[in-house]
Amino acid sequence: MSNPIPFLDLSLIPLDLKNALKEKFSQMLEKGVFSGGEESVLLESKLKEYLGVPFALACSNGSDALELALRTLEISIGDEVIVPALTWVSTAEAVIMSGAKPVFADTDDHGLIDLGKLDSLITQKTKAIIPVHLYGKMVDMERLIEWSNPKNIRIVEDAAQAFGAFQNGISAGNWGDIGCFSFYPTKNLGALGEAGALITKDENLHLRLMQFANHGQTARDEHHSVGRNAKIDSIQAGFMNVKMDYFESWQKKRKILASIYLDSLKNVVGLTLPEDILESNHNAHLFVIQTDNRNNLKLFLESKGIGTAIHYPTIIPKMLPYLDGKEYPNAEKLSKFILSLPLNPWMTEDDVLSISNEIRRFFEIA
Ligand SMILES: Cc1ncc(COP(=O)(O)O)c(C=O)c1O
Repeated sequence: MSNPIPFLDLSLIPLDLKNALKEKFSQMLEKGVFSGGEESVLLESKLKEYLGVPFALACSNGSDALELALRTLEISIGDEVIVPALTWVSTAEAVIMSGAKPVFADTDDHGLIDLGKLDSLITQKTKAIIPVHLYGKMVDMERLIEWSNPKNIRIVEDAAQAFGAFQNGISAGNWGDIGCFSFYPTKNLGALGEAGALITKDENLHLRLMQFANHGQTARDEHHSVGRNAKIDSIQAGFMNVKMDYFESWQKKRKILASIYLDSLKNVVGLTLPEDILESNHNAHLFVIQTDNRNNLKLFLESKGIGTAIHYPTIIPKMLPYLDGKEYPNAEKLSKFILSLPLNPWMTEDDVLSISNEIRRFFEIA
């Protein structure tokens, strides 16, 4: 293969976007407002409109969003929160930061929390569950709510990877009590630094989230509770406002590229392809394949100049700070089999065809 294809190289974003971002930075430099201000307010109104939610709070990052959500729901010492075993570490980390204990659930065959296992995990202490819409594919939220509502178990959605995914027309993050997003630069909608957001349908929760993220203030110098500083950086809000105008066209491109992958890899024996990636309940953030020959395939693609990634190579309950001595067979198997292929709107259809050719070649000779 002639041209290397990185997993994701953010310096390759198109020139018109680079210029629009530079222009936004210049405008903000002239205005001199670097905390709060109109860009943060504008971002929140764009989020509300796109996601179809009454309340949105832009914040510092997705990890803080999760912690703020749990604290606002008064999850604390002595409580238990169910989280999937396979996710980015923040999901479980936020539970510990709130004072509660994460209780891990095994996943299904595609990495989403296994709803069939939840009954065996609840105790008197279970106060909340964090479904993670991993890779951009939404957990079956109707089924989860049916399970959690009668038990009075709160839902904090980790929609960090699911911006732009909708189930039955309802956005990821808008099903549970509070939804959390990450705009980490590599996400399908990413800032040029750290940023995140929280959404809710409940005005009271929204007011408490706002207070918590701003030192417990209800107004300037009126501190009604103990909080922290988890506000969004205004410059990032400005950049996000620019990028949001491109978002829908990027999503269309992602789906086109994903459909080419699906088509060109469909007959490869030994390869499992992502489920529902073309559906609206999946935002095609990551294109994750599965094979028991993952490590060799990764090395082979690397030798051809193709970058890949693993989301994630170690399940959380097998990480030192979270060890619980239990087994999570599906999640563990996935952590050894999964491989994320390059998928971003700045790739060409030819890039996807070349990657698929190399994968087919690997399986022919393997
Ligand atoms: C599933 C999941 N949860 C939480 C986070 C945390 O978001 P952030 O990196 O913005 O803190 C991320 C992103 O990295 C994520 O992928």
